[in-house]
Amino acid sequence: MSHLSPFFFMLCFYVAVSTPEDPIKCSSNNTHCTVTNSYGIFPDRSICEAEQVFYPREEEEIVKVVAWASQNKKKVKVGTRFSHSIPKWVCPEGQNGWMISTKYLNRVLEIDAEKRTMKVQSGVTLKQVINEAAKAGLALPYTPYWWGLTIGGIMGTGAHGSSLWGKGSSVHQHVLHLTIVTPSGPHDGYAKVHTLTEQHEYLNAAKVSLGLLGVISQITLKLEPLFKRSITYLTKNDSDLGDQAAAFGQQHEFADIIWYPYQHKAVYRVDDRVPINTSGTGVYDFIPFRSLPSQELAFIRTTEDVQELISDADGKCLFAKIATNNLMAKVYGLTNNGTMFTGFPVVGFHNDLQASGSCLDIDTSAKMTCPWDSRVKGEFFHQTAFSIDLSVVKNFIEDVQKLVELEPKGFCGIENYNGILMRYVKASSAYLGKQEDAIDFDITYYRSKDPMTPRLYEDIIEEVEQLGIFKYGGKPHWGKNRNVAFEGVMNKYKNAGKFLKVKDEYDSQGLFSSEWTDQVLGLKQGLTISKEGCALEGLCICSQDNHCAPSKGYFCRPGKVYKEARVCARLGS
Ligand SMILES: Cc1cc2nc3c(=O)[nH]c(=O)nc-3n(C[C@H](O)[C@H](O)[C@H](O)COP(=O)(O)OP(=O)(O)OC[C@H]3O[C@@H](n4cnc5c(N)ncnc54)[C@H](O)[C@@H]3O)c2cc1C
Ligand SMILES: *[C@@H]1O[C@H](CO)[C@@H](O)[C@H](O)[C@H]1NC(C)=O
Ligand SMILES: *[C@@H]1O[C@H](CO)[C@@H](O)[C@H](O)[C@H]1NC(C)=O
Ligand SMILES: *[C@@H]1O[C@H](CO)[C@@H](O)[C@H](O)[C@H]1NC(C)=O
Ligand SMILES: *[C@@H]1O[C@H](CO)[C@@H](O)[C@H](O)[C@H]1NC(C)=O
Repeated sequence: MSHLSPFFFMLCFYVAVSTPEDPIKCSSNNTHCTVTNSYGIFPDRSICEAEQVFYPREEEEIVKVVAWASQNKKKVKVGTRFSHSIPKWVCPEGQNGWMISTKYLNRVLEIDAEKRTMKVQSGVTLKQVINEAAKAGLALPYTPYWWGLTIGGIMGTGAHGSSLWGKGSSVHQHVLHLTIVTPSGPHDGYAKVHTLTEQHEYLNAAKVSLGLLGVISQITLKLEPLFKRSITYLTKNDSDLGDQAAAFGQQHEFADIIWYPYQHKAVYRVDDRVPINTSGTGVYDFIPFRSLPSQELAFIRTTEDVQELISDADGKCLFAKIATNNLMAKVYGLTNNGTMFTGFPVVGFHNDLQASGSCLDIDTSAKMTCPWDSRVKGEFFHQTAFSIDLSVVKNFIEDVQKLVELEPKGFCGIENYNGILMRYVKASSAYLGKQEDAIDFDITYYRSKDPMTPRLYEDIIEEVEQLGIFKYGGKPHWGKNRNVAFEGVMNKYKNAGKFLKVKDEYDSQGLFSSEWTDQVLGLKQGLTISKEGCALEGLCICSQDNHCAPSKGYFCRPGKVYKEARVCARLGS
């Protein structure tokens, strides 16, 4: 063995640098483990622990582990190979909990071309679903834009693409049936397998479950015949965005909008189905999801750190323009034939356009990683994402525009992360799914490595967050966001009570719950953590100055447009 090890380690080194790190790490034979997300850290900067992790490959093995956990009253959580959710859903309670990883539940079980269905194990990635479906001439019509998600994780948090058409853009709306393994009593051998179809009311709980009901083992998706799409990006000024936003989603099946408030631009994605014989072999390889050399990532991050340190708002705004122009010039990574962009419309097969994520692919030639890989100095950010009902979306947009008028440079920071992505989501039958047709606003922004360091124009983005979440009742994306976004969240769901009832029935001992998940569900106090600097991290809404950073000039003040907001504003500048 020893004569092999230099080669062995070299191989490991290259592979480890290029593919994302496993979020579950153990000290020996799957015991004494730590669990994080793909960013290496949770919103409260904690890393979680687990006594042991299990890697089932079949449903029967899941049943055994769940039964064992149930008999031993062990806290347990489902984790995935990538752990792409930001909040602490994957953390088992305490230090002695167990993890059930879906890493090897990664097989497509059955494709029925006639019935247009696909049965998969819950750990398969979106990329696998897309590719395998396409091979059979089929397509999942609406999906997230990033293919590194597992189907179980997608359902866990209600992940979506963008569409108001058909059953809408949430993947769980296209689930025909699933099986879920829950804890049980001695009469069931301590675990139970439930098969839920569209006829079962409980499917509405299980298809957006937050991982709280048990382990989903298999999922059957409804597909469509593979089709082609035609994409054109139209860049306009944003003066009438409020009027356009709701209607645009009705006009085009795959519509979305990228909004750059500081630059007063809105990029409308005119995207529709076209006949299958339309010529075109377009490919979307979204640039922000491509790998970058670590030196380049470090350079970008250092620049950002310095701009923050010296409060260089103009520098940030200049960089925002350069970054945006660069992305637009490269059409965000869209090409007419896989190598070159020659003009709109870009026509291609759905499977080549619906999602991307080339940074996940192994690249042994250089030290390349996804831009947010925590092993290198690269992107480190907060993400705030919420959906605003179409009925009030115009008012929300206009309030944000008032804020832009007052403090235009306050928006440059988010434009360095490609502005605000606006995507259409449709009302869902899931208890914790969208309640109304809505637009999901996705905002990414700088986060300091030091929890006590405020951001430039901290107050402006905090005000947008509070406008969306509180004034307009925005529903936070379950897989993104900081703690503040989940404050009182269950009051926004008319069927929250039904979800809790199913949770009590499926997991009466609360083995799949943790203190944090109970706090989000409103079953326990303590989601808001009041301490020095808490508002900087979104752990609280400031109510006193030391929740901000008074020694650095940031004090707790009312919002500029939404007076009820409380934000960390930099004074005397
Ligand atoms: C680069 C990037 C792009 C993204 N793009 C989009 C997008 O376009 N649209 C969108 O809506 N979201 C998007 N997201 C968010 C993402 O969809 C969600 O965070 C998703 O939940 C992550 O899936 P995952 O497989 O990594 O699951 P995890 O984050 O590992 O798990 C999420 C939850 O699901 C539970 N879970 C997972 N598998 C099972 C199972 N088999 N049984 C029971 N519970 C389970 C977990 O316990 C956890 O509670 C993006 C995230 C990233 C990092
Ligand atoms: C795990 O490994 C340790 C030594 O590293 C060993 O003593 C122990 O028996 C192993 N446990 C199991 C369950 O294999
Ligand atoms: C924005 O476009 C509209 C027409 O689409 C035009 O009337 C208006 O003057 C433009 N505003 C700016 C600031 O260019
Ligand atoms: C596509 O096929 C239809 C009939 O199925 C035909 O009428 C049409 O002309 C074809 N279009 C192209 C671009 O070949
Ligand atoms: C794509 O189109 C460009 C320009 O027309 C051409 O030079 C290139 O060879 C094409 N690539 C492929 C893979 O067809």
